[in-house]
Amino acid sequence: MDNPFIKYSKTSDYVIGDLKKLSSSYIPDNFPHRERQINEIAKILSSIINGGIASNILIYGKSGSGKTSSTLYVTSMLSEAVSGNLNSIYINCEIYDSQYSILINIINSINIGETQVPSLGLPLDRVYFELIRRLKKSGKYTIIILDEIDKLIQKNGSDALYVILKVISEVNASIIGITNDSSFVNRLDARVQSRLNQESIIFPPYNAIELRDILNFRVSGIIKREFIDDSAINLCAALGAQEHGDARKSIDLLRIAIENALREGRDLVTADDVYRARDKFEMNILKESIKTLPIHSKMVLLSAALTQETDSDLTVTGEIYENYKNISTELGFQPLTMRRISDLLTDLEDLGLLSTNTRSLGRYGRTKFIRVMGSIENIKSYIMEDPAFINFQGSKIVKQTKLRTNFDSYFDGLNENNNK
Ligand SMILES: Nc1ncnc2c1ncn2[C@@H]1O[C@H](COP(=O)(O)OP(=O)(O)O)[C@@H](O)[C@H]1O
Ligand SMILES: [Mg+2]
Repeated sequence: MDNPFIKYSKTSDYVIGDLKKLSSSYIPDNFPHRERQINEIAKILSSIINGGIASNILIYGKSGSGKTSSTLYVTSMLSEAVSGNLNSIYINCEIYDSQYSILINIINSINIGETQVPSLGLPLDRVYFELIRRLKKSGKYTIIILDEIDKLIQKNGSDALYVILKVISEVNASIIGITNDSSFVNRLDARVQSRLNQESIIFPPYNAIELRDILNFRVSGIIKREFIDDSAINLCAALGAQEHGDARKSIDLLRIAIENALREGRDLVTADDVYRARDKFEMNILKESIKTLPIHSKMVLLSAALTQETDSDLTVTGEIYENYKNISTELGFQPLTMRRISDLLTDLEDLGLLSTNTRSLGRYGRTKFIRVMGSIENIKSYIMEDPAFINFQGSKIVKQTKLRTNFDSYFDGLNENNNK
């Protein structure tokens, strides 16, 4: 047989550049519709060029609005403008979320030919003085980018930031904080707030037209434009705009759609490819969030899915609880109380796996309707991947008929009124 990889290795004539540049981690050299924000940041940092000190900056905006990549772009341009005479240190506070790990990370990012400091075992004050010593020794201006800075506050309060602000007050340095949490600054101590929030810059969400320009720019020089139907670009832009103007989502969708069309050897990327990319994307997210659920949450979600399947339009908490108990007993677990299950249902709603809707139904009081998000088939199959469900039969799933009767009479009542 022919080498089964041959058909994949043939590069398409439509690819004219490096496909890796379409990945969302690639930092482009141009940012359509972010010129104003980039110029604002540059203006604030410009005093560094003349040997001065720049204000600290806070950057706000929803995820995918270009905050991280624009900031990295500006600091790399600044570094170029000062001929490399700059320490630009990037820390993602979602990953490094303690005062200690951040300080160690900053130390080890300063390139002065000294040995790396171990990530554990030094007392905090030693770390603090070592950091100041190395920053002074480097003789360069330092910009510390604290991305997702709200995560740092969430875990450590204002203290960690206070220490970093103290460090930078002793050397020539500034902080750029980036966050998607607009209320973040209100949660800071007054002493930290005034020092950190010297300048703030907002990255507004992109609209569909702006996203379309960004997509056209990102594919230029990589893929021949005739390979991509306008409808595909427009749809990616619309879907990103719907998702709070998320450029990452638009770019990822287009990249997956392009890769798919290339793999299948077709000569046009269409809106259909984008829909398929979106399904794949959403399936991955759904699968990942179900996989990591605790076992009782999986049982509750399975109960919601099966209950909805037997009685598609009316799924209420009581039914889900009854079926959850059946599932739990069948699998050999002691069922949790109704109250705990209510909490788990709220958690599942927060994760976007369920949606609830409370409606008032006349004399039957207020009733909470629950629906699973996404396809019931997919949800079931992802839950069943957990070995705990290996022998699950689901023979005891019941429909609560009493409720159904109540609703029927309620709707009958409505019809009578309408007919009067
Ligand atoms: N104006 C733009 N032009 C080109 N690419 C952009 C633009 N804005 C965002 N991107 C790209 O979208 C993706 C998400 O941007 P990112 O800076 O990570 O957003 P944020 O940090 O706000 O979540 C990145 O791949 C980035 O390069
Ligand atoms: Mg970011």
